[in-house]
Amino acid sequence: MRQFDGKTAVVTGGSSGIGLATAERLAAEGAHVFITGRRELELEKAVAAIGNATAVPGDVSLAADVDRLYERVGERGQGLDVLFASAGINFLATLDELTEEDHDRIFDINVKGTFLTVQKALPLLNDGASVILTASTAAESGDESFGAYGASKAAVRAYGRTWANELSGRGIRVNVISPGPIDTPLFPAVFGGRADEMKTAIGAGLPAKRVGDPDELASAVVFLASSQSSFVYGANLYVDGGMNQI
Ligand SMILES: NC(=O)c1ccc[n+]([C@@H]2O[C@H](COP(=O)([O-])OP(=O)(O)OC[C@H]3O[C@@H](n4cnc5c(N)ncnc54)[C@H](OP(=O)(O)O)[C@@H]3O)[C@@H](O)[C@H]2O)c1
Repeated sequence: MRQFDGKTAVVTGGSSGIGLATAERLAAEGAHVFITGRRELELEKAVAAIGNATAVPGDVSLAADVDRLYERVGERGQGLDVLFASAGINFLATLDELTEEDHDRIFDINVKGTFLTVQKALPLLNDGASVILTASTAAESGDESFGAYGASKAAVRAYGRTWANELSGRGIRVNVISPGPIDTPLFPAVFGGRADEMKTAIGAGLPAKRVGDPDELASAVVFLASSQSSFVYGANLYVDGGMNQI
């Protein structure tokens, strides 16, 4: 008996990086995993890698797309046991560089997208379900050019506390995961041609002496998704190589 046999999971951003690594682990442990993301080709490749998965293309910042995702989950008729909201974006901009459009874009995806992902799942979530949100060490670090991203992730962390409180009556646990630097396609998306140099430099400054692997995040999410974490509510689990801990 595997720990997620017969369970249904949703992983937003399940086509890449942390979301993909987690979707693979949940499926390997027996869950049927619904994944969503905007790029259909990436989703198709992810379904092939995950195996027991269904892709529902969509943008988490658009209510109609999130409705479509949960219509598909609902058609399976088994509710929802694990919800991992991993979809998110990042870009670098100092206060004087940040445009109104980019401010809205990052809050639409990282904050409103997380809100829609969890609110619209409410009718489907089974008693005892586990919801995991994705924040970041950037919510607390104050690093230059990470202001809009860090603010969006601080909002996610705040939502996690309130939702853990509000959903506890249904036996639903809500927790937050805060990754440090993890080697995913987000690195080149943020740092461009300097990605490898930045990985080495940032990793060297950590107690772990390296950046993290997506599978190390997946292990932590699987823990929060499973009954192994049955007394963990509203927590913020840092998986950051010690970045924010020293
Ligand atoms: N990697 C790190 O160092 C790090 C550190 C701290 C926190 N995080 C957080 O961890 C999460 C996952 O990051 P990652 O590193 O795995 O990044 P990634 O490899 O770039 O994956 C991001 C995923 O989110 C999806 N996505 C982005 N915008 C979306 C939208 N509007 N609607 C639906 N899906 C969307 C992407 O698919 P499409 O582009 O096709 O939509 C992709 O599947 C993010 O929330 C990120 O902020 C990452």
